Amino acid sequence: MKDLMPKITGETREEHIPLMFDEGMSILVNYIDEHKEINRILEIGTAVGWSAMCMANVRDSIRIDTVEIDLDMAEAAVHNIRENGMQDRIRVHHIDALWYDTATVYDLIFVDAAKAQYENYTEHFLKNTHPGTVFVYDNLSFHGIVDDPALSDNRSTIQLTRKIREFRTWLSEDERFETEWMMDKGDGIAFAKVKG
Ligand SMILES: C[S@@+](CC[C@H](N)C(=O)[O-])C[C@H]1O[C@@H](n2cnc3c(N)ncnc32)[C@H](O)[C@@H]1O
Repeated sequence: MKDLMPKITGETREEHIPLMFDEGMSILVNYIDEHKEINRILEIGTAVGWSAMCMANVRDSIRIDTVEIDLDMAEAAVHNIRENGMQDRIRVHHIDALWYDTATVYDLIFVDAAKAQYENYTEHFLKNTHPGTVFVYDNLSFHGIVDDPALSDNRSTIQLTRKIREFRTWLSEDERFETEWMMDKGDGIAFAKVKG
């Protein structure tokens, strides 16, 4: 898995584009591998296409729609996906996720865009789920600052991490989902399964 995209990962890390931590990505990829019923995936937050390609690489039957608000990122992703020969299975949509409207029903929705919007993304795409669809959220720990705000003295970081804490509370109390929390993995991940 990692051998397929070392170049893209290295370059984007140098440019300080946030990609999902390797540990988190490997947990997500293993989860998709173990759940053979997952074939239709929506990703919110493409960046340069790394995570989409990792997920598509699990098996050939996987089809991914990935949504990216930033044009430069979306174009870079299209380029990278084409270079890896995955353009027939991964479609990049350049649009704000909250404006992306589709009738497709997904088996897994990977939420990895604006942290303050996680609840809105979830509500927006709930119509595109079936019982058993899994929402996956990254960065729920935000380098530990969500649980320990003293780790940062940056005002906007503290505001953002407060929003993430509120989202965690919302998700843990929402009875439409059965949620598995992995706060010590990657940068804090949760798998929220839509109940029947
Ligand atoms: C953390 S990066 C995604 C990383 C990518 N999933 C990976 O691991 O390779 C978040 C991306 O979400 C995009 N984004 C932010 N707000 C968005 C929105 N409302 N709709 C779609 N994309 C958004 C950003 O431009 C950024 O490229």
